[in-house]
Amino acid sequence: MDRIRIVGGNELHGVIPISGAKNAALPLMIASLLTDDTLTLENVPHLADVEQLIRILGNHGADISVNGRRERQGESYARTVHFTSRNIVSTTAPYELVSKMRASFWVIGPLLAREGRARVSLPGGCAIGTRPVDLFIEGLTALGASIEIDGGYVNATAPAGGLIGGRYTFPKVSVGATHVLMMAATLANGTTVLGNAAREPEVVDLAKCLNAMGAKISGQGTSTITIEGVRSLSGARHRVLPDRIETGTYAMAVAMAGGDVILEDTEASLLDTALEAIRRAGAEISDTNNGIRIVRNGAGIRPVDIVTDPFPGFPTDLQAQFMGLMTRSSGVSHITETIFENRFMHVQELARLGAKISLTGQTAKVEGVSRLKGAPVMATDLRASVSLVIAGLAAEGETMVSRVYHLDRGFERLEEKLTRCGAHVERVSD
Ligand code: EPZ
Repeated sequence: MDRIRIVGGNELHGVIPISGAKNAALPLMIASLLTDDTLTLENVPHLADVEQLIRILGNHGADISVNGRRERQGESYARTVHFTSRNIVSTTAPYELVSKMRASFWVIGPLLAREGRARVSLPGGCAIGTRPVDLFIEGLTALGASIEIDGGYVNATAPAGGLIGGRYTFPKVSVGATHVLMMAATLANGTTVLGNAAREPEVVDLAKCLNAMGAKISGQGTSTITIEGVRSLSGARHRVLPDRIETGTYAMAVAMAGGDVILEDTEASLLDTALEAIRRAGAEISDTNNGIRIVRNGAGIRPVDIVTDPFPGFPTDLQAQFMGLMTRSSGVSHITETIFENRFMHVQELARLGAKISLTGQTAKVEGVSRLKGAPVMATDLRASVSLVIAGLAAEGETMVSRVYHLDRGFERLEEKLTRCGAHVERVSD
């Protein structure tokens, strides 16, 4: 199994191209099941999760082709992928596939809307929390679906004439349930109004793509989304928006290691709250015409308290990385996680590098230390694993991160992007 070896101590200088967003690409790919026409997505990142979803969509009958010639974009390769689901050959998403990637549960929306039925395995819990699917079930029921859970599967059936527009207010903000209800409602009879909807940029990107396919969605980006059902959707061409979590991760890496880096092909407006926290920690951040410049020269890292929240709040997907940064601050910071109940697995691993962190409920108290020292550590989930890389960049000596398949789920060419900026990071294959 591959490991990542980091020798800390180098500043970062140069340009890092930001990939298309994993968490936008996944729902966009799933939306291709809503039409028998071709959906072409540009700027699709090359990641293990994307490859896994390609297999899952293939199981439902999607014909998928990746542009032979990769589109060159800075030092990265953004792929253009064509999805055509002329016929849905199976409305079942089996346990073996869904259990590998939670987002694959989201096929329930398009399958139910287009075929009138779906049988999708419950995804089960995962390392960061129990992650139930009650909101999906309540929301689809509000659109007229009959749902029963049997043998670990969710069996959903639409009324004879198809789903019916309805009103549903989420009791809790859910990105995935917002994606699914928005997709399902595009083909419903009548108008659907979703209250307390997720406002994440990935939801806005999905709505934009669905509208290009002929859907009638308005209000995306606010907490009330209105979807007027249409009879059918057509194909479209859509460019996946930049990955705000990758952007924030590299911004924190520069804040940690010091240096001067331009993050290319991204937009500061996608992560204002996180950038503000990094600024308060002592880095200078400015817009360039195609991205963001981040500089930290000389100044130390200041302690900053953060609380994760749905967008536009501080993203839970950047919490671990920010904790990595705070391990070297000049004081005490508090990091509170409000989205997932078990998203602190990086605490034990950061401690192996010499970090001083104590947990009380959902809040971590991080006492900054003047030095971290490299050690073998283990990746436990996608974002936790990259927090170890960030800490490793500033640790003395060698940090060896094992279980890097977690990293490969969501960070495209991480070692290459960091190495080109002067970091000492390499993949070691056993
Ligand atoms: C998306 O997950 C992201 N995944 C996550 O990123 C991200 O952490 C999360 O949103 C929050 O921003 C993708 O986009 C593929 P939620 P999602 O439904 O949609 C609870 C990463 O590292 N909930 O917004 O699954 C849930 O348990 C991943 O890239 C219910 O209670 O998250 C959680 O506490 C990890 N019932 C909260 O809502 C439900 O039916 C928010 O979860 C659904 C969710």
